[in-house]
Amino acid sequence: MRHGGKRLGLVPTMGALHEGHLSLVRAAKRACEVVAASIFVNPTQFGPNEDLAKYPRNFERDCELLEKEKVELLFAPTVEEMYPKGVVTWVTVEGLSERLDGRSRPGHFRGVATVVAKLFDIVRPDAAFFGRKDAAQVAVIQKMVRDLNFGVEIVACPIVRERDGLALSSRNVYLDAAQREQALALHRSLTRVRKMWETGEKNATRLIAAGRDEIGREGTVRLDYFEIVDAENLDAVTSAERGTLVAVAGFVGMTRLIDNVVLGESQ
Ligand code: PAF
Repeated sequence: MRHGGKRLGLVPTMGALHEGHLSLVRAAKRACEVVAASIFVNPTQFGPNEDLAKYPRNFERDCELLEKEKVELLFAPTVEEMYPKGVVTWVTVEGLSERLDGRSRPGHFRGVATVVAKLFDIVRPDAAFFGRKDAAQVAVIQKMVRDLNFGVEIVACPIVRERDGLALSSRNVYLDAAQREQALALHRSLTRVRKMWETGEKNATRLIAAGRDEIGREGTVRLDYFEIVDAENLDAVTSAERGTLVAVAGFVGMTRLIDNVVLGESQ
């Protein structure tokens, strides 16, 4: 297909597909003549005490969904294919990989950057589509692509939410009904901060305090971080401007959820 000059789009996923993934597929279909998806639960981006073993897997259903969206190609390698015995080479995006989720999940972004680099080398897409819910992941991948001259266009697509604001995530299946309600605190905290910013508050310290306070009101959510950073280099800012990233991560029971807004952008 590449030799025929067709533009090839890749949607990398870990499966357990939901409407968020399908929105990436649809964006890829609009922008590219041929679309490939990958499904690979990448062990190297999970920490030793994380949910690799129980991460939701539903390969048959994922295939049906991708077929319905008319995805032309699916790459679903095994762990042994992606990481044969003796692999010792890693991609590390220094600095960025230790910010936000990278701080709470050491090694996570090394695993992400390495597997995405491998997927790009194997599939060789012209463009690749990622969700903005993983804002730090998008920043890490964008930097890797620039630094290593990948020549792949990175397209970051809007967060898809439930009607009540909960950001779609494969991990939402872990939540019971009560936790599903508690999880809404993340979106509430971002909405409060966005509204404060829209009515003139630009001071990052005060905005962060309001976000943390909102999470604190939902006593059951254990805050991991609430940060206001430059969306590209993930450095903390003192004054929140249009385009600044407000990002939150918290544990609802054992489930770690993340969410974010970019100030001044429709969500
Ligand atoms: O966002 C994800 O699902 C994963 O981090 C990715 C990009 C597919 C790499 O494993």
